Amino acid sequence: MTHVVDGNAVANRIRDDLRNCVDALEDEGVTPGLATVLMSEDAASETYVSMKQRACEDLGIEGIHRELDPDAPADELLEIVAAMNEDPDVHGVLVQMPVPDHVDRAAVLRSVDPRKDVDGFHPENVGRLVAGNPRFKPCTPHGIQKLLEAADVDTEGKHAVVVGRSDIVGKPMANLLIQKAPGGNATTTVCHSRTADLGAKTREADIVIAAAGYPELIDGSMIDEGATVIDVGVNRVDADTEKGYELVGDVEFESAKEKADVITPVPGGVGPMTIAMLLYNTVAAASNQAD
Ligand code: GUN
Repeated sequence: MTHVVDGNAVANRIRDDLRNCVDALEDEGVTPGLATVLMSEDAASETYVSMKQRACEDLGIEGIHRELDPDAPADELLEIVAAMNEDPDVHGVLVQMPVPDHVDRAAVLRSVDPRKDVDGFHPENVGRLVAGNPRFKPCTPHGIQKLLEAADVDTEGKHAVVVGRSDIVGKPMANLLIQKAPGGNATTTVCHSRTADLGAKTREADIVIAAAGYPELIDGSMIDEGATVIDVGVNRVDADTEKGYELVGDVEFESAKEKADVITPVPGGVGPMTIAMLLYNTVAAASNQAD
């Protein structure tokens, strides 16, 4: 029987553990605070940010949210981030990506105080991750490590194939998988849109991490018997539903499930973990700043 990993259940266990940490911080007079900034009218980004804020509230983390008109000057965004950096009640600062084209994304990532960079996107924190000494592990790859652990999938000595080279998922995932640390020690291949014969690469994998952003890119014919398949994709495709679309992963679930021993569904797999690990990083940031 294929094990379909319940990301909501794993995320709930992490949140329960975090609740104890939040209570302990409260006893020291510290309420963890997460500030989010949205400079976009993209419906998916709006949904993600409001989910993050709601998750904070449920856990007793103080949520502060600012929205900016997508046409506003970039300096306005940088000023808001600077104020959040200075605010002692704010322990984590997150600018929802993507930002509009006229805003220099790299400058925004650099503007966040690295000690408050709960996304782990600041170049100092990217450097620390690559050097094997992460301050904050980026939320989605960290959540995937937790899912693998919960599903009893040991990465040590395995061949992991990461499909996708984004700064948010593919690159940090590959870096975590090659670390000399639990959840790492995997032989890791990174594939992307220019990879020739993707199926030949994924068929060699003990663990496939699909994070390319293409609906149902990977089907069962591309999966080795007994592999673990982690689907990071959240793609909106037109469908005859109330909303006019449905969410599908980067993996064609039914055919991949025939081959895999362990697989994550979309929705209900990796998605809930991203938010749980954001809460984890925010609590860690508050704890570090309280020391
Ligand atoms: N956009 C898509 N994923 C993320 C994320 O994890 N963090 C931020 N800040 N923006 C995103």
